[in-house]
Amino acid sequence: MNKAYIIPDEWAIIEEGFDPARVPASESIFSIGNGYMGQRANFEEDYSGKSLQGNYIGGIYYPDKTRVGWWKNGYPEYFAKVLNAPNWIGIHIKIEDEILDLNRVDVLSFRQELNMKEDWLKRSFRVKFNSGNILDVESQRFISMKRKELGVIKYRVKAENFSGKIQIAPYIDAGIKNQDANYDEFFWKINDIETEGDQAFINSETLKTGFKVCTAMQNVFTLNGIEFRPEKTIYKKEKSLDFQYNINLSEGDELILYKYAAVTQSMNYDEKDLKPAAQKVLNEAVATGYESLLEEQKTAWQKIWETADIEIKGDIKAQQGIRFNILQLNHTYTGEDARLNIGPKGFTGEKYGGSTYWDTEAYCIPFYLSTKDKQVAKNLLVYRYNHLDKAIENAEKLGFTNAAALYPMVTMNGEECHNEWEITFEEIHRNGAMVYAIYNYVNYTGDYDYIVQKGMEVIIAIARFWQQRANFSSDKNKYVILGVTGPNEYENNVHNNFYTNYLAKWNLEYALENLERLKQEFPVDYQRIIDKTNLTKKETAQWQKVASEMYLPYDDKRRIFLQQDGFLDKEIRPASALSPAERPINQHWSWDRILRSCYIKQADVLQGLYFFENRFDKKDLTRHFDFYEPLTVHESSLSPCVHSILASSIGKDDKAYEMYLRTARLDLDDYNHEVDEGLHITSMAGTWLSVVQGFGGMRNFDNKLIFNPKIPKQWQSYAFKINYNGVILKIYKSQTETIISNLSDETVTFYLNDKEVRLNGHRNIQL
Ligand code: BGC
Repeated sequence: MNKAYIIPDEWAIIEEGFDPARVPASESIFSIGNGYMGQRANFEEDYSGKSLQGNYIGGIYYPDKTRVGWWKNGYPEYFAKVLNAPNWIGIHIKIEDEILDLNRVDVLSFRQELNMKEDWLKRSFRVKFNSGNILDVESQRFISMKRKELGVIKYRVKAENFSGKIQIAPYIDAGIKNQDANYDEFFWKINDIETEGDQAFINSETLKTGFKVCTAMQNVFTLNGIEFRPEKTIYKKEKSLDFQYNINLSEGDELILYKYAAVTQSMNYDEKDLKPAAQKVLNEAVATGYESLLEEQKTAWQKIWETADIEIKGDIKAQQGIRFNILQLNHTYTGEDARLNIGPKGFTGEKYGGSTYWDTEAYCIPFYLSTKDKQVAKNLLVYRYNHLDKAIENAEKLGFTNAAALYPMVTMNGEECHNEWEITFEEIHRNGAMVYAIYNYVNYTGDYDYIVQKGMEVIIAIARFWQQRANFSSDKNKYVILGVTGPNEYENNVHNNFYTNYLAKWNLEYALENLERLKQEFPVDYQRIIDKTNLTKKETAQWQKVASEMYLPYDDKRRIFLQQDGFLDKEIRPASALSPAERPINQHWSWDRILRSCYIKQADVLQGLYFFENRFDKKDLTRHFDFYEPLTVHESSLSPCVHSILASSIGKDDKAYEMYLRTARLDLDDYNHEVDEGLHITSMAGTWLSVVQGFGGMRNFDNKLIFNPKIPKQWQSYAFKINYNGVILKIYKSQTETIISNLSDETVTFYLNDKEVRLNGHRNIQL
């Protein structure tokens, strides 16, 4: 199967021709969503071929019992799973007595399109049944950006060469499973299935977690453009409900089914209100009508693209790739609800079943900060603030005291639910990303109030963790952090991972710096926080000591920080010496061999230099890059973007472009041979970073907004917009010119190629 089968187009993802081997991959790629819910592009009609059924609702999870070989104290009892939720897209179709199933009929033509500008999914196909009957089908569906609880389908069938009976049965089904269930259990219980006039409802509930969901549908038909109400038979089954319609078609007739679906859930309503709320969504949607709802969808997306779009001229595949990533990030998280977050696979698959990783803080925050109103990124921070008590409990379970917090590696509700000891217990650098995200947000927005009201408590609890986690080595006469896993998960239980130690040191310093500022500028809040956290002078003095005496492994000869103690004992051979047959090494080598090797899964030391680039000069960066880049195998999708940004910054333009290519079309061209499992949503934010921070050279250090735009020689031009505290700036770069336009009324100050620029509203600067 050709993996790169998506047809290049600036605003659409297109697949032509039917290949059953591609179905699971396309189900991921053509996924839709609106931040509240989302789904894989499963077919509406029956399909007996290979498929991963997936429809998900933000925040709804199940605690699947942990399955491990050797239980270790401190493991979480369960692994929270993003749950496959009741299916509302299904439509059974029979022509005479033959089922419409693309795996069983002769598919004469097939085209699928995900329109990115307007955000709808369309499939058009013609099939021939054994009887010789040819049916022409076009289905279009979308999940409404405006009405979050609404999904709609327009399903058109045309009897091309026959007259006869069509049985069409739209249904809702709560009899769904997760393919990755640890014990093959069913995670839903059905409370009731009911109908009221033209509407049907399934009230279901997740076992253990008790989330209640009402899934509802209503169907409207037209025949040759005229609305009609065919007789229906109701089939109420144990876990699903069909409305079945038998309609006689004459040759050439066009039947359209408009299926409206509503999904309401108990995070937003009392149980008794779930059904009335779903009913309201349906009533209003039906009254508005499909075409007007589609118009609303277009308008909502026009607004999103206004600030989020990146235009690339001269490279259609790059254009398609970046828009696809922006689209899918918006499908996953839209930022109205601080209880939701960004799962690495979003609403496109089950793997990485837990919702939230450090990916959010380390990679996604800048995307949302620059493409949306600041409340969106703030909600991501508030999500962690609301989990602070759980992070403290989590640290207590591991033996920490005095309200030190360890945020989980993977979580749905604040509790840790990852269970590999090397990661659960050791990959503690994630704690640092929580603080870095606060710093990033405050630096960009100037909203210091966030630290005053919420952020400081998080920073204090994390500082406490670092102080307790470090220990004094009398041998080194320094503080050390032992037994960790850095971002490079191809090393476990290492001592003094540079990234972790550096971040810990910075976290402690940042905590002290902010305490001082609060004391001076917000004395009342300062006292409130001190009282609430019982913070003592003795404690902060200890933070100071640990920070100033933190050990950072360094090689004097090469003048580089070492990834960890002893890194140079390894046999250092560039990854280019590996044969392609050995890559990715995680699929070809034993774990033992990987651990001993010098190969780096993802940016580690370089991740640190990227976060703190303002503290290193270009020569430092280049030395580190030249040492670590050749050893990095980029077997995490989060890796190439960081290398691309740094490469741009140090003038390695070809490398920057090469790394950019590895992230830009990762899923569209299925580089990692796993797109069928879902999309790499969080690394999509990394691609955006590669363009905006990499080629665009945008930085935001010390409250300064900086641009140093460059352009890959393969492109004619590119342009991106950012929302900088309500001011929309457009950055345009071609091979010959750079133009920055202020599209808002207010004056804005930034640095362009190291020179300060004050740009009035609706003015450009052109170089
Ligand atoms: C990476 C982690 C990341 C996780 C989820 C892993 O492969 O090594 O850094 O958090 O994927 O994206």
